[in-house]
Amino acid sequence: MSQSSSKFTQTGHQSRVFDSVVLARPDALLALIDAYRTDPRDFKMDLGVGVYRDKWGRTPVLACVKAAEKILWNQQQSKSYLGAEGSSAFVEALTPLVFGDALPVSRWRLSGLQTVGGTGALRLAAELLRVAGRRRIWIGKPTWLNHESIFRAADIEILHYDYFDRGSQSVRVDAMLDALEAAQPGDAFLLHGACHNPTGADLDINAWRQVTDRVVKNGLLPVIDIAYQGFGQDTDEDAAGPRFLLAHAPAALVAVSCSKTFGLYRERTGAIFSVTQDTAQLVAVRSNLVSISRAMYSMPPDHGAAIVSTILQDPALTAIWEGELAAMRERIAGIRQCLAAAAVSAGLSVKAISRQRGMFSLLDLTDAQVDWLRQEHGIYMAPGGRINVAGLTEQTVPRLVRALSACMTL
Ligand code: LMR
Repeated sequence: MSQSSSKFTQTGHQSRVFDSVVLARPDALLALIDAYRTDPRDFKMDLGVGVYRDKWGRTPVLACVKAAEKILWNQQQSKSYLGAEGSSAFVEALTPLVFGDALPVSRWRLSGLQTVGGTGALRLAAELLRVAGRRRIWIGKPTWLNHESIFRAADIEILHYDYFDRGSQSVRVDAMLDALEAAQPGDAFLLHGACHNPTGADLDINAWRQVTDRVVKNGLLPVIDIAYQGFGQDTDEDAAGPRFLLAHAPAALVAVSCSKTFGLYRERTGAIFSVTQDTAQLVAVRSNLVSISRAMYSMPPDHGAAIVSTILQDPALTAIWEGELAAMRERIAGIRQCLAAAAVSAGLSVKAISRQRGMFSLLDLTDAQVDWLRQEHGIYMAPGGRINVAGLTEQTVPRLVRALSACMTL
């Protein structure tokens, strides 16, 4: 032992500073990914994490992404800092995609910032709510597993509204409208863009109009989480409801993820947009978002954002991306039909799967049935019975249906 360390122990500085730290509750989705990875059974089936898979079960890098990376490799001159706002070229390129025809209405009240994925955008939104003195957010039940933790981390109180009826597999619009009536002016209200995670059941345009009416009348702050634009129908169709709301709401926050739509999961590519009542608010809100991100992580990583802006600034690459997005969408729609048909012939009532959209559906299963499917059949799904439909292939559908039939008659 060196002289200095023995002196240190003699002075009595031996308190065990981390003794008060207890084990954190594991994240359910990350735990599922780990459990799947370490499961040695070769017939295991991953319907858990929301990652697109092609008909061979792969999650390939999109061709438009590879092409953009080649361009960047040839042309990028520097990796120097960009600043806490991230890439403005990326935000500029993403803005019309998200806002479309809502853009002229809100141009002078609209500002965007690059973030660390969609989760980073929601986390900044949560901190901004705190700064703005907005201490409550309404979150639909069920919702994406991480939504509540993100807002709770900023000390925002969570209130719930009922979103989904498992029996009929449809959206409970009335319950949602009741919650919008019960909310207090200034409350935040979390809404999903197309392809609701975890149910795959979306609001139709008429419901978006009713929601917009209540949001405006009751002075609420909509927070829209967009991660699957283009997975349901095309990018404009999928954005029609949120755009209607954004064109009418005096203020809003929008979190956007490029993880699924550009297949950039691990590149953590996203943005937060704020719509404010006037330009003075816009400047103040933006400056706070910048200082929050600076204090949290300084600035977002650039590579994914550089890829997306390279694609969206180049019409040929944009066309390739649109084709690849359509191919992902069509494969998911096809496998939905295949699953629904197989389920119907097995006498199972999961027909609604064919009218739901995007990667997810929420099966009407108990936790015990979800566990049994994993233990006995190696079929992994997220808690609550969420399946990632894109995890299926025509070859694996019959096995899922057989296992479901067995578990529903347990
Ligand atoms: C999912 O819901 O499976 C994905 O969005 C993965 C995640 O980040 O939780």
